[in-house]
Amino acid sequence: MPTPHISAAQGDIAETVLLPGDPYRAKWAAETFLDNPRLVNEVRGMLGYTGTYKGNPVTIHGSGMGMPSLSIYANELITEYGAKTLIRIGSCGAMQKSINVRDVIIGMSATTLSTPSRGIFKEINFAPCADYGLLEKAVTAARAKGTPTHVGNIYSADVFYDERPDLNEIMIRHGILGVEMEAAELYNLAARHGCRALAVLTVSDHLITHEALPSSERESSFGDMVEIALQAAFA
Ligand code: ADE
Repeated sequence: MPTPHISAAQGDIAETVLLPGDPYRAKWAAETFLDNPRLVNEVRGMLGYTGTYKGNPVTIHGSGMGMPSLSIYANELITEYGAKTLIRIGSCGAMQKSINVRDVIIGMSATTLSTPSRGIFKEINFAPCADYGLLEKAVTAARAKGTPTHVGNIYSADVFYDERPDLNEIMIRHGILGVEMEAAELYNLAARHGCRALAVLTVSDHLITHEALPSSERESSFGDMVEIALQAAFA
């Protein structure tokens, strides 16, 4: 400590960490929802803030985009800084007609073609899944807020600009709710290290209707998701 990617001092990272992909979202969420947020990391511009929510210490730290990036930060936060509860907050593309942009999707499990853990699992098709206690509390918080919320299997893709549209079609046919790029490896790492993990996602675009959330509305729907994640962590 510090690690290659996090310059925070011992004790600067809380046991509960929210992980947005975008470091500027980490800054916004910390400044909007935490009391006394302070910058604890800015190595490579990957901003991390620690403050309190209703008196409970929380860190909000960028994960970057994609599972290899998330794997770096989650590994260091867990093994070097003692993070125990890790909640991804981010956006996803909806994969079912019954889901609308602005809705929230909570990932009960995460399907992939591959993850950075492939080298360990080899022939094992490990099923990355969320912590049930966190999931239940997130659903309760979302329902109390009145946010339309869907719970189920999500797809953690390796590529945003996918040259194989048939993959999305297979995911849609198997009831996958939405596509994002990080949750499966977060769930793998949580399982490996005995941590709790969850992904709470806001629908920013739709793979069937091609609707997209206007940028003017991104902040408020992102805010709903941050509050759901914080309430799930401390309910
Ligand atoms: N995150 C938000 N929308 C996405 C999409 N369509 N594919 C992958 N990740 C996403």
